[in-house]
Amino acid sequence: MSTVIRNIGELVTNDPALGAGPLGLVSDAALVIDGDRVAWAGPAAAAPAADAAYDAAGRAVLPGFVDSHAHLVFAGERAAEFAARMSGRPYTGGGIRTTVERTRAASDEELRANLARLVAEMAGQGTTTVECKSGYGLTVADEERAVRIAAELADEVTFLGAHIVPAGMEAADYVALVTTDMLAACAPHARWIDVFCEHVAFDAEQTRDILSAGIRAGLTPRLHANQLGPGPGVQLAVAHGAASADHCTFLSAADVDALAGSDTVATLLPGVEFSTRQPYPDARRLLDAGATVAIATDCNPGSCYTSSMAFCVALAVREMRMTPAEAVWAATAGGARALRRDDVGRLAAGARADVLVLEAPSHIHLAYRPGVPHVAAVWKAGAPVVT
Ligand code: NIG
Ligand code: FE
Repeated sequence: MSTVIRNIGELVTNDPALGAGPLGLVSDAALVIDGDRVAWAGPAAAAPAADAAYDAAGRAVLPGFVDSHAHLVFAGERAAEFAARMSGRPYTGGGIRTTVERTRAASDEELRANLARLVAEMAGQGTTTVECKSGYGLTVADEERAVRIAAELADEVTFLGAHIVPAGMEAADYVALVTTDMLAACAPHARWIDVFCEHVAFDAEQTRDILSAGIRAGLTPRLHANQLGPGPGVQLAVAHGAASADHCTFLSAADVDALAGSDTVATLLPGVEFSTRQPYPDARRLLDAGATVAIATDCNPGSCYTSSMAFCVALAVREMRMTPAEAVWAATAGGARALRRDDVGRLAAGARADVLVLEAPSHIHLAYRPGVPHVAAVWKAGAPVVT
């Protein structure tokens, strides 16, 4: 069964061979979906026939957002911590342990339902690829349960046993557990290994040990790096061939150069700076140096509880000196790069049919009209999510 989406005012393909600029923009466009794939994209006048038709009525069509960084397997919430922060208390990551207690006490069903609720909330806002980390279990059984449940509902799963040292344990003992039994239990359910490399969590040597063990177990690194202050995270991410260094809030010139000279994507999470009142990372500096930049939500109950990629795009433009086109690219193709995926984040023949129809004539409206509903329709892998 094929469907042609016709009367597209502006099609973002992210394929420079199909249209103008890095977004590969085609005006007066059409898109043909066949099963779970894009069969054709291009100017409406050249569109092939299909079994069914959807009239986009001049609206903009984008690849679904790729949210490459989220922590969605948890129970409870931390609104009171947020309120305290807004009256001056800094974010230190200590609240992670509160969520760990709530998560350990929750049933599988409760965790699964909360994850499903968040993935559906994301899909309803145009996010069609979701990465999900563990990290609120911090025992072998609780981390295994987190990655196993994540794998049921998320597109990409990351083992983040090294989120913080759990209460009552010595750091060295915990790192020994993460790199042996916990890794062995979690690796079958995950593609990625992550560490919160920060003075409040894991230092350079511990991060090195955990990433190396993960690589030996067949996982690929991605890293929480340079979030709360300057540190070794970005350099370690690059040295270990990480797909992405995430946060990148406090970067030295050498960090920017290392990212620019590598395949490691700089994933910026401006919702975190919004929700913690930290200074925003400087995306302009990274882009001008030649680094690849992605934008993601970091959706989690502590440092940033938004699931809205549109909100993050608006923040990226207003607060991180990105153009609307750069921010939209970073939230789609950039996220795909950060997950080393070439089937999502673009709309060209062969790509997964992840389609976002905006209630607007161009992608610019995502930043130009912050805080308003933008979604007219969404398909994920050819299946309607919102119509
Ligand atoms: O990416 N930095 C570490 N982890 C999350 C926050 C987790 C939490 O506060 O619950 C983050 O910001
Ligand atoms: Fe995070």
